[in-house]
Amino acid sequence: MSSFLSSSNDFFGLDIGTTAVRLVQLSSSGGQNALVKYAYVPVTGKTAMSDSKADQDKLAQIIKQLLGQANVSTRSVSVGIPSSRVFTTVADVDRLPSNELAKAIRFQADSLIPTPLAESKIDWSLLGDSPVDKTKQEILLTSVPNKFVEDRLDMLEGIGLNVIAFEPDNLAMSRSLAAPDDSAQLLVDVGRRSTDLVVILASKPHLTRNIPTGIEAIVRSASQNLNVDEKQGEEFVFKFGMSKEKLEGQVFQAVSGTVDLLTTEIEKSIKFFQTRYTGTKIERIIVTGGASVIPEFPLYLANKYGINVEIGNAWRNVTYNRERQNELSALSNQFGVAVGLAERTI
Ligand SMILES: Nc1ncnc2c1ncn2[C@@H]1O[C@H](COP(=O)(O)OP(=O)(O)OP(=O)(O)O)[C@@H](O)[C@H]1O
Ligand SMILES: [Mg+2]
Repeated sequence: MSSFLSSSNDFFGLDIGTTAVRLVQLSSSGGQNALVKYAYVPVTGKTAMSDSKADQDKLAQIIKQLLGQANVSTRSVSVGIPSSRVFTTVADVDRLPSNELAKAIRFQADSLIPTPLAESKIDWSLLGDSPVDKTKQEILLTSVPNKFVEDRLDMLEGIGLNVIAFEPDNLAMSRSLAAPDDSAQLLVDVGRRSTDLVVILASKPHLTRNIPTGIEAIVRSASQNLNVDEKQGEEFVFKFGMSKEKLEGQVFQAVSGTVDLLTTEIEKSIKFFQTRYTGTKIERIIVTGGASVIPEFPLYLANKYGINVEIGNAWRNVTYNRERQNELSALSNQFGVAVGLAERTI
């Protein structure tokens, strides 16, 4: 259905995650986004993460199946790039007119990014005044290997899609999950294989990190230390979690070493942020992804850092029929990226 005042956006968001491929389409009118469509299909980590031709073909078929199932009205798509493939840094740059700025940033990027400039797709956004050098302004700079982007593009074009934007997952989910205020907030997305951290200040991502510890490692430590198979380990983790009372705290004991690999890295990032932005306190931590449904994991973080912890709501900026409340809430922790991609103003 479309009308003069409100019509479906002419693109949808596509998150190719480790455990599922998800899509979201919104319609916008008067500054409000309404849900038009969402869908997802499970994938295996091997298919999603592999660069081999056979796995890419398989992924293409899965996405095609998802498109058919969702019956999306447009072929235009904004696509997420796994944060683990993206290099991100903050840099201070001269205050220059925009035409000169782009050139200066490209020149400067050469020494900042880990891959050769000629083989990398770089992008940047202006953050504001540099907190350390009053004569400069700061930017968030990202770079992705050309090859990864080109392969993704070929795969998606091969099934008839028209890619209008690529965006790192961590930046996309900042749009959907962060509270729209001037505070500093830390977003923690614990995925299957890795965890994304983003510090958002005044609604703009200022620091991102990807830590190679996720649900898989937490489940593995549960099954190894409790001497049960992976399936049982996973059940224990999502049933008893970080509770010191449930099952006499055995699951807590079994996973706490691995969880603390994560909390140590989170702490480092908080400190790193506060060294650059002196005096800026992180006011809340927003948890999403698999770990947001591990009992007492959010509470564990709150106690560890003395910072309020909230469970992210991927649909916070989206209006929808109230009858869908339960179904959407249940999926909220895995839709942050897809919703954020759909919320882009292209
Ligand atoms: N409600 C839940 N109950 C049990 N397990 C869950 C629940 N929600 C998520 N998980 C598990 O948490 C893990 C991570 O989920 P998530 O949706 O964050 O992964 P992903 O987005 O596919 O991964 P990535 O972001 O790393 O690409 C998955 O193994 C998933 O099965
Ligand atoms: Mg994810």
